[in-house]
Amino acid sequence: MPVTILIGAQWGDEGKGRIADWLARQTDGMARCAGGDNAGHTVMVGEREFKLHLVPSGVIHPNVQCFMGAGMVINPIRLVEELDMLAAQGVDVSPARVHISGRAHVITPGHMALDGASERALGGESIGTTRRGIGPAYMDKAARTGILTGAMRDPAGFAEQILAAVDGANWLLTERYGLDPIDPAGLADQYRAAAERLAPYIADTTHLIHTLLEAGQRLLCEGAQGTLLDIDHGHYPFVTSSSPTAGGALTGLGFGPRAVERVVGVAKAYCTRVGNGPFPTELEDATGEQMRRAGHEFGTTTGRPRRCGWLDGVALRYAARVNGLTEIVITKLDVLSGIDPLRIATSYTLDGDPLATLPPDTASAERAEPVYETIPGWQADISGARRLEDLPGQARHYIDRMQQIAGVPAMMISVGPERDQAIIL
Ligand code: IMP
Repeated sequence: MPVTILIGAQWGDEGKGRIADWLARQTDGMARCAGGDNAGHTVMVGEREFKLHLVPSGVIHPNVQCFMGAGMVINPIRLVEELDMLAAQGVDVSPARVHISGRAHVITPGHMALDGASERALGGESIGTTRRGIGPAYMDKAARTGILTGAMRDPAGFAEQILAAVDGANWLLTERYGLDPIDPAGLADQYRAAAERLAPYIADTTHLIHTLLEAGQRLLCEGAQGTLLDIDHGHYPFVTSSSPTAGGALTGLGFGPRAVERVVGVAKAYCTRVGNGPFPTELEDATGEQMRRAGHEFGTTTGRPRRCGWLDGVALRYAARVNGLTEIVITKLDVLSGIDPLRIATSYTLDGDPLATLPPDTASAERAEPVYETIPGWQADISGARRLEDLPGQARHYIDRMQQIAGVPAMMISVGPERDQAIIL
């Protein structure tokens, strides 16, 4: 069973890129299965920092085959920029090792404009999307009016499809939202050029992945976003429009559950969220500010400050169940140094009644009050720790509690942004 699925166990930004980079050493292929350039994965290699939005982070490792699966929505212009950025840094991004499913969907300029228009129209009720066009692209996919990435094999025809899509979006922008239309001048040339560049990468990724698996090689599925942002299992509508949970890896890439050996959930030692929606353990005080500062909690994709709060153990347990986690990775433990005491939410109360599980709907999640367990903190800088024994007893206790709450063991604990700042268990 050669597949490992790497999942965000919170609201995204758990540090998956870094863990994917570490796991890439033990894999032959790496795949993105859902979402698009709303994701932002940062990988540090020595002094060099790679910010990846679409290409799997395994691309940094020369022997790893990279796949972008059918479940994704891909902005061709951004993908070309990302490939160029990687190539300029000496990374091999040839079509011999980077493969784009022909069944993924294309994000058009209309999708991006409509994402922004819809958010503006929602005003105070907005979702707080990344405005990358993700929701509108998945809307077209579900409505069966989308453009497949496979269309880029015919660059001229693809450019015509883009213009037709922009025309349709312009009707909505002007008639529904009262906004200016998108100026189509130059778009045909821009998208034709992108298609010419990307056409050699279009492949039957399902077949390629099965060939790899049948040869006994290993595949790592690099999840984007996080469990609590799942369109089915998060607090709708404050979610993304895809399935960032383990099930999404299966549908997004096209293999069955029997192929899966490990499901690794990545969780920060505290919680963050960008965008709006319920966040019961949020801290809007000096402690939250300390977490934001120490953890550099600003979005990779949008630069927005992230909302910060105590670890939500109920959400972590929920993520363990929904994904069938076999293990967890705890990230950013070092950020908690100097915060004493620490708190972990282990249940909620809802309208005065105890609630041990995730609130069933968004309105009750907004009202839920966390019930905290208080845990002694530690003062020492732990960023140099490389073994469990190097950590203060309080930090080890905190890790124990996270494992007990998740119900699965931790395989790694990160204590800093560099590749080697980790404790491998
Ligand atoms: P969308 O995916 O751009 O439609 O945004 C929907 C929600 O998911 C918003 O709350 C975003 O902030 C959030 N979101 C989307 N992608 C990410 C991510 O990679 N990390 C964290 N939050 C994300």
